[in-house]
Amino acid sequence: MKITVVGAGAVGATCADNIMRRELAEEVVLLDIKEGLAEGKALDMFQTATLCGFDTKITGSTSDYSKTAGSGVVVITSGIPRKPGMTREELIGTNANIVKGVTESILQHSPDAIIIIVSNPMDTMTQLTLQTSGLPKNRIIGMGGILDSARFKTYLSMALDCPPNDIHATVIGGHGDTTMIPLTRLATRNGVPVSQFLDDATLQKVAADTMVGGATLTKLIGTSAWYAPGAAVAELVESIVRDQKHIFPCCVALNGEYGQSDICLGVPVVIGKDGWEAIIDYTLTDDEQAKFNQSAEAVRSMNSVL
Ligand code: NAI
Repeated sequence: MKITVVGAGAVGATCADNIMRRELAEEVVLLDIKEGLAEGKALDMFQTATLCGFDTKITGSTSDYSKTAGSGVVVITSGIPRKPGMTREELIGTNANIVKGVTESILQHSPDAIIIIVSNPMDTMTQLTLQTSGLPKNRIIGMGGILDSARFKTYLSMALDCPPNDIHATVIGGHGDTTMIPLTRLATRNGVPVSQFLDDATLQKVAADTMVGGATLTKLIGTSAWYAPGAAVAELVESIVRDQKHIFPCCVALNGEYGQSDICLGVPVVIGKDGWEAIIDYTLTDDEQAKFNQSAEAVRSMNSVL
């Protein structure tokens, strides 16, 4: 399979690197609008093949979409990232134009592709792609919840002083500082609810830290993060290309699930060769459902500027 990553910035290049190292494609195409950037990063990455033991080919392209032709999966990371103090929502105007244009160009050459949206504000960019591309809804997946869940699990493991992989936890709702919902009630350490190890105040702090996880990194680094976002995209791509049927929280079009319709929002979905294949409808408590409804309203109001 050929996989295209649009945007050769921090997140796009890290996505491509992770996809290659996992050998998820025969060929990866990295595309950017900046002259030479994608070609240069692709060549640098290809020169790690003999050092890291993979054979995936990677090529770069400056806005030549013919090189992306026949891609099975396309990851869209093009757009501006936030700076310290900015919300993801402030990126909307610039990134909406970029994401719309990129999607049109991609579909001219890869009409059967599954599209993964990474550019922020991701929930609104996913909605935009659904509205403008004409693609079946199962082929449009917004990536945010996998990253937010990874942050949640990491903060839980730090609070518990245990290995991160002993933790299972998920974040649903929007991919925004105030719209995401870390499901503390369902978080477990080796199958045991984390509430048996941590008091309420600690759990609330972990949830709050998770929600501003991206902003914390932006403040430290000066721009938004890329290592965990890149790895999160690769996790999603792997479940598609290997048809693994993993359940990940992703931003998808809801049609009555979780009490919401006509909106793309983060919920657990089965990911396989056809994109997102089913929504797992957890039973939420009244409080969780109220938060989900608030999250939907906030994302709806953001979508209204499209
Ligand atoms: P970056 O600035 O390092 O890279 C963005 C790249 O997009 C640049 O190289 C730029 O030249 C390119 N670009 C701009 N317009 C383009 C066009 N029309 N066609 C092709 N390429 C174009 O930014 P970074 O850090 O890689 O972030 C990218 C996006 O991903 C941002 O919107 C950021 O907020 C978002 N993001 C989303 C996450 C998520 O979980 N969904 C996590 C982290 C970042």
